[in-house]
Order: sequence, then C-alpha cells, then structure tokens
Amino acid sequence: MTADQRMTLADSIHTNGATPNPWWANAVVYQIYPRSFQDTNGDGFGDLPGITSRLDYLADLGVDVIWLSPVFRSPQDDNGYDISDYQDIDPMFGTLDDMDELIAEAHDRGLKVVMDLVVNHTSDEHAWFQASRDKDDPHADWYWWRPAKAGHEPGTPGAEPNEWGSYFGGSAWEYDPKRGEYYLHQFSKKQPDLNWENPEVRAAVYRMMNWWLDRGVDGFRMDVITLISKHVDANGELPGVGDSARDAGPIGPDGYSSPNPFCADGPRQDEFLAEMHREVFDGRDGYLTVGEAPGISAERNRTITDPANRELDMLFLFDHVEPGGGQSKWTAEPWSLAHLKRCLAGHQRAVRDRGWTSLFFNNHDQPRVVSRWGDDSSEEMRVLSAKAIALLLHMHRGTPYVYQGEELGMTNVYFDSLDQYRDLESINMYHQLTEAGVLSEEAMMDALKAISRDNARTPMQWDATKYAGFTASYAPTEPWIGTNPNKDVINVKKQLRDGDSVLAFYRRLIELRHTNPVVAAGDWAMLDEADPKVYAFVRTLREEGVGGGIDGSGEKRLVVVVNMSSGSAALPPETKDLLGLNMSGAIIGGASADRVLIGNYPAEQVAADLLFGKLAPWEAFAYEL
Ligand code: GLC
Ligand code: CA
Repeated sequence: MTADQRMTLADSIHTNGATPNPWWANAVVYQIYPRSFQDTNGDGFGDLPGITSRLDYLADLGVDVIWLSPVFRSPQDDNGYDISDYQDIDPMFGTLDDMDELIAEAHDRGLKVVMDLVVNHTSDEHAWFQASRDKDDPHADWYWWRPAKAGHEPGTPGAEPNEWGSYFGGSAWEYDPKRGEYYLHQFSKKQPDLNWENPEVRAAVYRMMNWWLDRGVDGFRMDVITLISKHVDANGELPGVGDSARDAGPIGPDGYSSPNPFCADGPRQDEFLAEMHREVFDGRDGYLTVGEAPGISAERNRTITDPANRELDMLFLFDHVEPGGGQSKWTAEPWSLAHLKRCLAGHQRAVRDRGWTSLFFNNHDQPRVVSRWGDDSSEEMRVLSAKAIALLLHMHRGTPYVYQGEELGMTNVYFDSLDQYRDLESINMYHQLTEAGVLSEEAMMDALKAISRDNARTPMQWDATKYAGFTASYAPTEPWIGTNPNKDVINVKKQLRDGDSVLAFYRRLIELRHTNPVVAAGDWAMLDEADPKVYAFVRTLREEGVGGGIDGSGEKRLVVVVNMSSGSAALPPETKDLLGLNMSGAIIGGASADRVLIGNYPAEQVAADLLFGKLAPWEAFAYEL
C-alpha cells in the first residue's frame, strides 16, 4: 500500500471521539538501535549506511516510520543518550551526508524518519556544559548548579546538596572543582540535567529542532521528556537543597533517595510542551511527536495528547512494563497478567474520547518480551508465544511500535558473566546493589539475565553467519557486544522463507492496521478482566459506510482472545457469551473458520476450539462477529 492510500484510509476513519484521525493513527513505527542494526565498515558498530542498506527490508515489512535511537555526536557513555553536539552525526555512525542520504532513501520508499531528541540532559562534553562551568559565562545558569551542603567541605563525602541517587548508580550530584559547585544528573555523571527554567535553554533547543525538521526529518521521539519540568519551590529551589523547606524524600537501603517524583511532570510541563509546539511544530504537518513519559498517569497522558492542548501526539507510558507498587526493577516480584491487564486497560480507557496512546512492549531499555512474558524454552513455544504477544499488542487501539528483532521473536541473551555486559546501568547497579548487600552476586546475575537492557542490544539477527550478518564474518573487529548464539535458529533470512514465521505474522498484523478500520479505529473494551490466564477484549466500530455487521446495525466487531500461558485454558464466560450470541445461524452453536481474521493456529482449529470452549497453549486470534 502506498503512503497516499494509507492517508486516504486514515482520512476516512473517525474515532469514537470527535476528532478525525491524523496520519499516524493507523501507522506502525519501527525502532532502530543503530549501534546494533547493521555494520558496513567492519568496526563492530552499526552505522547509518547500514540502516540505508536495510530500508527495503523495512519497507517490505510494511512499517510507516523508522525511529532511530541517537546518532548524534556523543562520547557514548550511555550509547549516545549523552549528546555533545546535537547538530552533527557521531563519526561512529557516519556523517551528515549519510544522514541526508538515509532520509532521502527512506522517503523514496514512503518511510518517515523520526530522530531521538535527548534534551533533559546533554553530555558533560557539550559546549554548553563546558561554558557553564564558568560562573561568569552567559551559560552559567543553563544547568542545575548548587553549592555544597552548608557546613560541609565541597567535594567531600556527604557534601552533596541533597541525598538523591542517580538512576544509574551513585549520587545524582557531581562536584566540579573548576566551578566549586555540584551539578545535578539524574542519569550518569556524564549526563548533566539542563535547566529548562531558563528561557535561553528552551530557545536553543527549539532552534536545533527546527534545524532538523528543515533538513527533512519527520519528527522526534523525546527522551524522558516529562523530566524537564522539576518541582521547584517559590524561590526556584529543589527539595533538600540550601534553605528549602522540603526534604528530598525517603532514603533507600543503598543510601539514596529518589529524585522522582520531585523531578517528573513538574508544574511547567504543559507550558513547556505547548511552547515547544508553538515554536517548532505550528505550521508544519506530516510530523510525529512521541514523548517518553516514565511515571505519567493515564489521565495525564490524555491531557498531554489531547489535540486541543497542542502538546504532543502521543507518549510512552511505562507502568505496564514496570513492577507495580513502587518496587525497584532489580528486586521486583515476578510478572503478573493481572498487572498488564490493569495497566493497558487504564491506557485504553483514558483516551477513549480524546488523546491517543502508543502501544509497545519492547524497546532498547526493556528485556525481550518473548523471554519476559512468553516462553522461550522451546522453539515451538517461542514461536507461538511471540505471535500471541504480538497479536495481543497490535489488536489494541493506538499506534504500535516494533523494536528491531521483535518481529523475529528475538530472545534475551543470557550472558553468564558480568564482563559480557556493556550497559552502564547494568554494571553500575550490579556493584551498587551487591556491595550494599541488597542482592547476592548470584541473584544480581539472574536479575541481569532477566531484565538488563543489554538483552535488547545484541546484534540484529539477519542470518546464521558468525556475527548474524550484523557485520561480516571476516570483519577485523568483533561486534561491540556479543551475538546471541541462537542466531542459527532465529534470523531474518530463515524467516523470510517461511510463510508461518513470526516475521510473516508481524507483516500481516501491520497490514491489518493499515487496511482494517476496526483494528485502526474501533472502540476497545476488556472482557473477562479477572481471568488469570486469558487476555480478551472486543473492538467495535460503528460508522456509516464501514458498517455491515451481521445484525445489520452497521456495527463491526472483532473479538480478540489470547491465552497467555503455555498450558491449555478455558474460554472465559464473557468472551464465550459474546461469541455464542453472535454465531451465524447457519452453523448452530459452531464457529466459522472464515471469521478468523488472524491467529497463530490454523483457522479450522480455532473454530473447533471455540466450539469446545478450550484454548491451546498460547492460542491467540482475532475473530470477526
Ligand atoms: C531514556 C532512554 C535510555 C537512557 C535514558 C537517559 O530512558 O531510553 O536509554 O539511558 O533515557 O537518557
Ligand atoms: Ca560501522
């Protein structure tokens, strides 16, 4: 389907709310982690020419947009999320010319290109930060500089302005001897937080964004964008700092308190986003904005994404991929389907009439979903569960995101030793939590196997050669991170030849988003919410012109049923009733294989299973009423 045809479908669909859908309402976005996607010069790092060389694969998969994790100039402390020059490409990835070529080649194939905007912080090597180290420089107030705690010698232990810990380990404050003060960094000490209270900071960011849009990019994924407005008091002060009346939060077993919630979704969040919209996006069209929004409620998501407020198109919420109850991800209880249902239902219900939501299970910070919630213990279960989880996600209302390799059912890597890890969060937290006695070394290794970000960052598996086709087998340098040994079984080349592959299944799901109005725009309602194994819901579209439901009401319904377990399960009562009541009279009490829109078992088996009210392991399908 061409980009034009897709637009026409989007134009013809109206949500149950009042606003006509913009182009991205039935688009699918593919996330690329450039370092691990395709290396073309044998240095062991993926690069921009590598992405360009794989555009045909992506166009063929059917996605509409590619989002690139950061490729800007960076010391690479946090794999590019620490940017030292926003208007240049890191030599590791190529040049600005390579970027221009990638954009042009993508556009030729009807693919849009979205870049990562990392503006809660810069690198400490950015010129703004270097200038800011001088109290007399015009950039002096561009970051969160604070003096040592009263009565303490600057730079000595315990002299930090407050007790906040960094998400990547250690204090969130770093002492700079040149300035004689501390700067705030919620992430690594090479990622100082920018001071968004300063209008010059904001203006500089908007100038840079306009420069990229003018160059041809189609929008931004905005890194931790909900951290830009901090909860300062009337004097502009942070809790626990100086003579602030507020303390900096409860101290955890590792000796630190969390900067969240003091640094998330502060009082000026909406103001900053609306200002950004005015300064950057007003008067443009065809772009996409998606904000990374840890800690944001479904209701706040509705406000921020309500088109009337002119802030952002959509956000990534994280409650569904995070443990509930404020637990740390390293020590969390095992995952539960009840938690997933509660979170996704919350997202869906909040944006029923206005606002929008993104749909994702994987990205470069999450473990592989088939290992996390599916079953990677055998090839048969891996394939079934990867498809089941994909169907579950893609049949919701919203804009789906596919993370590289997810479309193959790539799994966690299960590294055995700490020196195989590259991620600074994984390595720092290993030391911090084992040294503080929070976890034993063995328990921490298990935690890393289950949730380390590096699980998502191993080389893309193109084929079964030594480095999975990510880089040539004879390349002088090994890939920057180990290749998953299961590349022999799980790879693009193999799946392209198999009509029943996970890859083929994703292609079909993406096609349905583009061609089936109920999938794209239908209302969403949960079925059998309390069932511990089965996740079921119904999508309903009532609209003139696309009607023709079997009761003649002009209503189209899709029932989506997923057995989220490796055992069999009973078809739960609400789902059964809904299917039974609407069964075609011609096959009394039976189900028709023709009504199975998509499923991971043969349609005839789905129909038979419906008749007996039983679901096979990971059985998943969408059934048209
Ligand atoms: C976001 C990114 C993550 C990065 C962090 C700091 O959460 O997705 O990869 O480490 O922000 O920029
Ligand atoms: Ca390279």
